[in-house]
Amino acid sequence: MNSLVKVWDLPTRLFHWALVLSISASAISVLVFEHMVWHARFGYLIASLLLFRLVWGLVGGYWSRFVNFKPSFSDSLTYLRHPANWTRAGHNPMGSWSVIVMLSLIFLQLMTGLGSDDDAGFSGPLTPHISSAWVSLATRYHADVGQWLLLFWVCLHMAAVAYQTVMKKTPLVKAMLSGYRVMAHTNPSSADSGRHRWLAVLLFSICSAITYVCLKLLDTQA
Ligand code: HEM
Ligand code: HEM
Repeated sequence: MNSLVKVWDLPTRLFHWALVLSISASAISVLVFEHMVWHARFGYLIASLLLFRLVWGLVGGYWSRFVNFKPSFSDSLTYLRHPANWTRAGHNPMGSWSVIVMLSLIFLQLMTGLGSDDDAGFSGPLTPHISSAWVSLATRYHADVGQWLLLFWVCLHMAAVAYQTVMKKTPLVKAMLSGYRVMAHTNPSSADSGRHRWLAVLLFSICSAITYVCLKLLDTQA
């Protein structure tokens, strides 16, 4: 029997769409407007979002918790052999791998950005604290490798979502917008009460404050 299951709580949905907007804004600000200050500011917003998602993966709604989408090789093989038999809500095993790789690529892009220098007057706040060899390695990765890897992975992510939506008639985008999916009633719903949402506001504020303090510390010790 199927029923309406809350898969993505509001904080996870807001995290997702804020991440999409801030990554796009960060890339557009450097590639189109060549505005490094805004490029970095959007990067700092992404840092706060990633930190928040890390914490939310421990205390967030059921399907947002990392323990509930921890992918295993045997689950992945089972899913690949019989995708139609997969009845759990949340990310399927391939989606879980993809999310882990995507978050890691974004994290790497951020960390190398902090240590990059554009040789035109702008450098990330980590550059005064590391050797010039590390700065050039970080810059090379950030500008020549990382941006393309991330772009490739984002395209793969969107293609996978489009395939599931159009070919498999699985309304994943609708679920990332409304939070709900029609699933086997044995699936637990993610908690998404007012109390949970206020907890998310508090945690995001703390994550932003931590990002701010870290940046200030890097700045004052330079
Ligand atoms: C810069 C572009 C994007 C990035 C970095 C990104 C990143 C992510 C991440 C990290 C997740 C995991 C959510 C979580 O558990 O916290 C996710 C899931 C998802 N994203 Fe995106 N996303 C992007 C663009 C899009 C777009 C354009 C769409 C659709 C129009 C989309 C639809 C979805 C859907 C439906 C899921 C849930 C997949 C599932 O049910 O397993 N994403 N995305
Ligand atoms: C996930 C977040 C980020 C993304 C997606 C991103 C993406 C990019 C892209 C697409 C470029 C253009 C490379 C080119 O010219 O072809 C770039 C350059 C650059 N970014 Fe980022 N970036 C991010 C975070 C940051 C952060 C936080 C900083 C530092 C505060 C930073 C510092 C730089 C610098 C200094 C360059 C110039 C590198 C050069 O001219 O060789 N980035 N970034």
